This record gives sequence, structure tokens and C-alpha cells, in this order.
Amino acid sequence: MNPGYAPRYGIGFASLLDEVSNLPLSVTGILPPGLVGTMYRIGPGRFQIGGHAVGHWLDGFALLSSVAFGSRGVTCSNRFLASSWYRWALMEDTVPAGGFDSQPVHRHSHFSDDNANMSITHWRNELEALGDTPQSILIDPTTLATIRTKRRGHLNRCCACSPHPVFDQFTGERFDLSLCNGDPPGYVITVTSPAGRTRRLCAVPSPRLGYMHSFSVTPRWVVIVEGPFTAYPRSLSSSRHPYLRNYVWDAGRGSRILVVDRRTGALKATLSTRPLFALHHINAWDDGNQIIVDLAAYADPSILDSLAFDHGEVPAGNFPAPLATRLVIDLEHKRVLCSPLRCPPGEFCTIDARFSMRPHTILFAAGPTRTGEPIDRLCRSDVTTGRFIEWSSDNCFPGAPIFVPTTADSPEGEGWLLTIVLDVLAKRSFALILDAATMTEQARAWLPCALPFGLHALFVPEEATT
Ligand SMILES: [Fe+2]
Repeated sequence: MNPGYAPRYGIGFASLLDEVSNLPLSVTGILPPGLVGTMYRIGPGRFQIGGHAVGHWLDGFALLSSVAFGSRGVTCSNRFLASSWYRWALMEDTVPAGGFDSQPVHRHSHFSDDNANMSITHWRNELEALGDTPQSILIDPTTLATIRTKRRGHLNRCCACSPHPVFDQFTGERFDLSLCNGDPPGYVITVTSPAGRTRRLCAVPSPRLGYMHSFSVTPRWVVIVEGPFTAYPRSLSSSRHPYLRNYVWDAGRGSRILVVDRRTGALKATLSTRPLFALHHINAWDDGNQIIVDLAAYADPSILDSLAFDHGEVPAGNFPAPLATRLVIDLEHKRVLCSPLRCPPGEFCTIDARFSMRPHTILFAAGPTRTGEPIDRLCRSDVTTGRFIEWSSDNCFPGAPIFVPTTADSPEGEGWLLTIVLDVLAKRSFALILDAATMTEQARAWLPCALPFGLHALFVPEEATT
């Protein structure tokens, strides 16, 4: 990148220092009266402290934002997570090096990193922020205050975790995937009951560990897709390199598909398919002796390199976008078919959650209009026909979409699509409400500032918190 060049979306990678609480928002358009609840979004929000800058977007300090919709209008709050990682940085007036991909100045390990800036969940009335380390953070859903850091699972030698636990809407269970580096090294899956009791389902030994951002659970199986982006287990907690730099892409290894019996914890099958790099699984279900897994697949892990800060300069692209891809895992014939779904490239794919663990038709995603550009549109695709409709607006960069059904029994994909959008010309963000069936705009609730680009989001209906 040319020195001094600032891409027009650069404000999306800039620190936001102001915290606000229950600030009323101005609304343009008509808010759906049935939309009552709170949208939460998490992501990196601060990138410099004491004249020092983080080396990678994913090392930005976790910022939680909320937009609450109710009978008295719309309000917003945003607050930094008071992780030990962030508190140390404020006390020392510098950024901890190490982390995800920042070079050593004052070295910390990824292992001690509780900068949970990647994902957010709401389960058993707990709001939880997660990164890819064993520490997550519990948050007060009203004030966004940090309650405490939580160590996920009861695991020894755990060096990384998926930031995306899987929740079974039928049984109420939660599944977590961890990477462990001892006796023997491998993948550990834990299951937590609706009452909060956690048990180890299985430990699958593996001499190398794949970069695991998410995984799938069906009514019968747990499916781990290990792309050829792997690290030696011991290096993940003892290496002198930042976390990401322990992983090596070797396309010649192909991808391994590990299928675990959800009832017994036994490893049912280890199959292989072409090399792919996936951050996000989308949905999975059983079909006789086949397992269908949809995930967002990149050709390689270069998306992670594209988000590095180049000597303090914001990422200038090229940003690859993944293709929603279907794996048909045939347990009887021990083979895997891998083919793209009929929809435009995009990240943060989401379905109508009522179709989790069963076949879905509608897929929502955020993607780029032009290859290599940042995300600038939202798409609704019918993956059976390939027909898609989109929303976009000049100078606007939407984040991860969230689907909220109109009613509990409304047809698939009928409801609202919510996200936070950054308008780089107005230098402000807004909460966008679309009619999810038509992708037509219903309303914008304008925030007082430009929120940095975020990662995942969540909507908690009011009845879930009362
Ligand atoms: Fe994620």
C-alpha cells in the first residue's frame, strides 16, 4: 500500500474511545412494532494505547455494542470488555504483544488472552463474549458491564477453543470444541446440559491441530472439518510466535472430516476432501447414512493475513470472500462430495435458526459487490433455485446479519433482518432493519458515532430476558 493512502472505509478500522449508555436514537422509516428486544454486537474496537498499535485487526480490544428496540423507542450502548487483557494494557499504557498476530514488544501469550472479541452468545440467561482462547467473558445484558472471566470447560492443557459453541434447540445442550496439547494432543468436545453440567464427550487425538473456528452438530453426529492449516500442538502455547503464526497452510494435506458419535463419543469416521479453509459452519443435518454440512469455504487462509495492520496502516484489501459450500458426507461409502451452494460469495452466513439441524432453503449473508472489496451488501438467497435478492446503499458497509422471525410459526425467512451498518460518508453507523422476505428497508436507527467494523451479532427478544 502507498504510504499515507487511506481507503474510504478506513474509519471502520479506527478506534472508538467513547462509551455511551442507553442513548436514545433518532429513527428514519417505520420500526416494526413487533420487534422488541436487544441486538448485541461484538468486535475489535480499539487498536492503539499509549502510542502503540496492535498488529492485527483481531487483536483490537473487544467492544460490545447494543441496540435496544422497545415501546419507548430505540437506545444504544457501547462498552469495552473489562478483560484482564484490556486492563493490563490500560495499566501499562501499551498493547500486549503476542495475542492473535501482534509482534512481541511486551510479550503475552495467546493462552492468557481473554480479549473475547470474536463472538457473542446468549444461553441459560447468560450473555457471553468469546474469542478463540479458553477464556470467555460473562456480561451484564443491561449495562454491558463485565461480570467475570470464565474458563471454558474443565480441560487440562487446552490451548484454544472455537468461539462458536453449538446449541441444540431440540435438547437444549451446548457443545464446545477445544484444542488440547497434551496426553495426547487433539480435539476435545464437551457437552453442557441445559442445567449447566459439563461433561467431556470425547478426545480425538491428532498429531497436528487445525485452525478451528467452528464445527457442526447434527442430531446424531459432531463433525469437525480440519483444513490443511495446522500447527504443532505444543507450539500453540509455548511458541515465541503470535498465535496465528504457528499455523502453516499445506494444501497437499487436503481436509480431514472427523465424525464423532454424539451419543457415545466414539470416532465413527475419518474422511477426506479437497483443501479448504472455513471459519464458519452454517448448518448441518442428517439424511439417512449421509451428513450434510454447509460451511463458508475460502480457497486458503489469506483472509486472516488481509486483516493485518501494515505498520499501523489499515488493511487495504484484497479481502477474499468465501463461498457457501455443501459437504455431503456419505458414511456408508466413506466419501465426501464438496460443491458450492447456489448463492453469491459472502461471510457471516446465517439461516432461520428454527431450521438449525434440518434442511434449510433460505440463506442470508454479507458479501462484497466486487471481488476483493470489503463487505458492502446483504443477500438473501434461495439455495435450491439460486435466486437471490440484495440490499445495498451508497457508501455503506453492513456487518453480520441477524434474522428475527416475525412470529414463532411464520414461514422460513419471513421476519426482519438486522445489522449494524457503517456509513463512511456520514461518518456514522446505523442499525438497519430490513423486511427479510423482500430485503426492503424498514428503518434506520442512527447511532451517534461511527462504530468500527464488527464481527458477530445476536438478537435477544425481550421475553427471553424477563
Ligand atoms: Fe466467527
